[in-house]
Amino acid sequence: MQRSTQILTPDSAGVDVAADILRRGGLVAFGTETVYGLGADARQGDAVAAIYAAKGRPSFNPLIVHIASLEAAQELARLPDSAQQLAETFWPGPLTLVATLREGHGLSSLVTAGLQTVGLRVPANPAARALLTAFGGPVAAPSANPSGRISPTTAAHVRAGLDGQIDAILDGGPCTVGVESTIVGFDDETPVLLRAGGITAEAIEDVLQRPLANDGGGSITAPGQLASHYAPRGRVRLNARAPEPGEVMLGFGDVAGDMTLSATGDLCEAAARLFDALHQLDASGHAIAVAPIPQHGLGIAINDRLTRAAAPRPAQD
Ligand code: TXA
Ligand code: MG
Repeated sequence: MQRSTQILTPDSAGVDVAADILRRGGLVAFGTETVYGLGADARQGDAVAAIYAAKGRPSFNPLIVHIASLEAAQELARLPDSAQQLAETFWPGPLTLVATLREGHGLSSLVTAGLQTVGLRVPANPAARALLTAFGGPVAAPSANPSGRISPTTAAHVRAGLDGQIDAILDGGPCTVGVESTIVGFDDETPVLLRAGGITAEAIEDVLQRPLANDGGGSITAPGQLASHYAPRGRVRLNARAPEPGEVMLGFGDVAGDMTLSATGDLCEAAARLFDALHQLDASGHAIAVAPIPQHGLGIAINDRLTRAAAPRPAQD
């Protein structure tokens, strides 16, 4: 979708316009201390799908959810004690904590890519903080660059890559850190480094008074690994026009099915529904047949995820 991209200054008028755009399901790039993020309301599936469309991202990875405070993070997920300690030390700042979602979290399943955990971060950049406070809800934001291009650290970088694809850029000045946040997950209570970033492992270990486990190759930072973290229990058959005995059918467009990703063939709607639909059909205990999804636009990311869901589960899983 072609959009006209406004550049907003980070004063209260600019921040209010940006927050309004997010409420209406639009896309706002905003400066953080690490890199510029491409933000959408994390509760609106269509808005989150539009992030992928704007970036031209060919696969769905879980996205980091940005909030204004530790309290807001605790409403979404259960932070183990060590996470709490890290949040108190490093938030606001370039640290993302991956924790288990609470019941009723309200996030789109496209944000979590169907996982039961979520990456949470309270950024330090004043424009980002003002936006999150004015908006008052969770903002999903990957880096604000077209897929495969360099992460943006100025509003001009964002404009060069995404002009006409997004609704606004909230100019937070040049990013002071310039690399993405450090991501720490928790295997029960054991902290695990999932992505190196703006805060060193040593600084984290100093606070925790224990070594950080390294994510021994099981990282979902590599998109190819994500399949092993959530795959339906039943077999998945792609490009199906009709169900075979014992299958439930996920439709698209003129292939109706037991449930449809989008009756009108809208790829944005289909992306927004994908993970919920897989969860629901999987709960039926049957194998899942999936209608053909066109291989263009968001269809590429949808097909990527479906292909992973249909692949045999790796033996080491
Ligand atoms: O600095 C940053 O973190 C930037 C700025 C904009 O805040 N954001 C950023 O977001 O890099 P994003 O969405 O591109 O980072 C996504 C990565 C995933 O590829 C994965 O490595 C990790 O965050 N992640 C997110 N949710 C996760 C989860 N539930 N479990 C494990 N890793 C997760
Ligand atoms: Mg990125």
